[in-house]
Amino acid sequence: MKRKLLSKNKFIPVNSPKIFDKEKTYVRDCLNSGWISSEGKYVKKFEKDFSRYNKRIYGVAVSSGTAALDIALKSLNLKKGDEVIIPAFSIISTALCVVKLGLKPVLVDSSLTTWNMDIDQVVKKINKKTKAIIITHIYGFPVDMKKILKIAKRKKIKVIEDSAEMIGQTYFKKKCGSFGDISVFSFYANKHITTGEGGMILTNDKKIYFKCMSLRNLCFGTGKDRFNHDDIGWNYRMTNLQAAIGCGQLKKISWIIKRKRQIGRKYISLLKKSKKIEIQNFKFKYAENIFWVFGVLLKKNIGIKRDYIVNKLLNYNIQTRNFFIPMHKQKIFKKMNLFSKTKNLKNSEYLSLNGFYLPSGVGISNKDIEYVGKTLIKILESKI
Ligand SMILES: Cc1ncc(COP(=O)(O)O)c(C=O)c1O
Repeated sequence: MKRKLLSKNKFIPVNSPKIFDKEKTYVRDCLNSGWISSEGKYVKKFEKDFSRYNKRIYGVAVSSGTAALDIALKSLNLKKGDEVIIPAFSIISTALCVVKLGLKPVLVDSSLTTWNMDIDQVVKKINKKTKAIIITHIYGFPVDMKKILKIAKRKKIKVIEDSAEMIGQTYFKKKCGSFGDISVFSFYANKHITTGEGGMILTNDKKIYFKCMSLRNLCFGTGKDRFNHDDIGWNYRMTNLQAAIGCGQLKKISWIIKRKRQIGRKYISLLKKSKKIEIQNFKFKYAENIFWVFGVLLKKNIGIKRDYIVNKLLNYNIQTRNFFIPMHKQKIFKKMNLFSKTKNLKNSEYLSLNGFYLPSGVGISNKDIEYVGKTLIKILESKI
C-alpha cells in the first residue's frame, strides 16, 4: 500500500528521542576520564539535580524504573502477605515488585475519563491488611491523588508514587513525584528525559534513602566488613555514562514538556472531529496533560477494530503501540492463579482492547504528526 499524503517513503517510529549537545559533552568527559561504571561524579550530580528539580531531598539513581519499583517497595519493610493496592492497568513491573516480595497485589480498575486508577475503588479496597498503595500516573495525566493521600496518611498506609511517565508534570502546581513516602521514575528511551535505560527513586525520608542506597548495591557492608552483606539486594546501579546523559537531558526538560504539549495539541486539532475515538483529558483543574504518549481510545460499537486500524497504519509506515494488557489478563499471573477472584476490572479490559498510541516522541516533526493524524482519520472514515 502506498503513502498518499507524503512523498517520501519514511517510517515514522512510535518513539523518537532527542539527544542534545550537552549529553555528548558529558559522555565524552566520562569516556576521556575512564569513569564509566557507577562510580563517578555524574551519578551524584544527576541525583542532586533531579531531586532538586522535583523538590525532594534524596535521590537514588538506578538501572531502570522496574528496579526503582523493586527497591522502593522493599525499602518499606512490609511483611509477607501484606496487601499492596495497585492499578490493574499499568506496566507489569507494578505487580512484579509486589509479587517478588511475597506481598499480595490488590487490583483496582481504571476510570474511562482519565485512564488512571479509579479513586473510589482504591478507597473501597483499603482494609486492615493494606500496607501500601502504588499510585501510578498513566500516559501523562496525573491521578487525582488528594483523597488517597489523605486516607493513606490517616491509616498509616505507605504511598509509592510511580511517576515513570510523568517527568516534569505537576499536580495542583506541585511536581508529580514529590508526593507520598517515596516516588519512582523511568528514563527509558521513550520517557520525557532518557538515559537509554535508567530510573530514579526520590524520597524525603533519610532512613528510606539509606535503605534504597544499600538495596541498589547488593547491601554491601562497610569498612573491613565490605563483603559481608546484610540483606537481599540487587545490582541495580546506574552507570556514570547513563547519568551523564541524564544530566544533559534534564537541562532541556522545559523545552521537552513544551514540545510534548505542542504534539498533543496538534494531534487533538487533527483528530477532534472524529466521533469514533476518545482522547485522554488535555486540561483539568489539577493538571495539563504532558502526553507521555498520545493515546487513542476507540468508542464502543463503531464497527471497526483496533487491530485493523493499527495494521492499516503500519501499512502506511506509521508505528503504534497497543495499550497495556491489565494484570489479571497476564499469562504469568493467570498461571499463578493470582487474580482469578478479582472482579470489576471492565474498564482496564476496555482500555487494553481498544486503545493504542501514536508516534509522539519529541523528535517527531509537525509534518509527520499531520501525516499520522490525517491518515488515521481516513482509516476511521473508511476512505483508505
Ligand atoms: C508507569 C510505569 N512504571 C514503571 C515502568 C518501568 O520502567 P522501566 O521500563 O524503566 O523499567 C514503566 C515503563 O514504561 C511505566 O510506564
